[in-house]
Amino acid sequence: MSVRLERICSHLTRAESFADIGCDHGYCTQYMLENDLCERAYISDISRGSLQKAERLLQAHIQAGRCKAICADGMQGLPEACELVLIAGMGGEEIIRILDGRIPPRFVLQPMKNSDKVRAFLLANGCKITADYTFFDGKYYDLIAGEGGGGDSYSDFELLFGRDNLKNPGKDFIAMVREEQAKLRAFLTAPDMSRENRDALRARLYTLEEITDAVDEVL
Ligand SMILES: C[S@@+](CC[C@H](N)C(=O)[O-])C[C@H]1O[C@@H](n2cnc3c(N)ncnc32)[C@H](O)[C@@H]1O
Repeated sequence: MSVRLERICSHLTRAESFADIGCDHGYCTQYMLENDLCERAYISDISRGSLQKAERLLQAHIQAGRCKAICADGMQGLPEACELVLIAGMGGEEIIRILDGRIPPRFVLQPMKNSDKVRAFLLANGCKITADYTFFDGKYYDLIAGEGGGGDSYSDFELLFGRDNLKNPGKDFIAMVREEQAKLRAFLTAPDMSRENRDALRARLYTLEEITDAVDEVL
């Protein structure tokens, strides 16, 4: 299992019912079932071909009646409201579309982009975010886990960068910020850049410098 999948699985805790939306290979559901972390699991994918990979992997569990495969968009085909829902490896806007109007009691999300929009959506919908940080596995990924109720509030920087990254910064997040700063400084040495682009790059660099200062203060 990749570092990314291991990291996702480390947030999957015991639940009566579990759904892996956009399951593809099905490894996370295998982790839930083989560690006896759920009574019932649903593997769901919009792509028949992707779902078949998970069906092959989890054939024994499907036959034993502990796992059901569903080919559907988002949570649409689920026969029950699952206690724990995983949505990983999709864009943030797609994750929001899937969760809209149907936020589960507990969720683990790993958006590929637009994590800030996912955070804003969760907070606007009264969720409590319990984990929100960046990790590295060949590239940088965000992980957001939480609960469907309880409410929460974030600062503007926490919305943009993830709360745990700012409150308790890990080495991966710090490395990501420093890499982006170095890239921006290199871009800014280019002589033939429009004023508009230069201003945008400077603004981003300024924001990252504020983040570095904030991180240095907590370290
Ligand atoms: C990049 S894979 C990620 C697989 C796995 N969740 C992971 O993180 O390794 C994205 C999967 O989501 C599925 N998918 C994309 N949009 C979906 C949707 N609206 N509903 C269900 N599955 C979707 C794709 O078919 C694909 O199998």
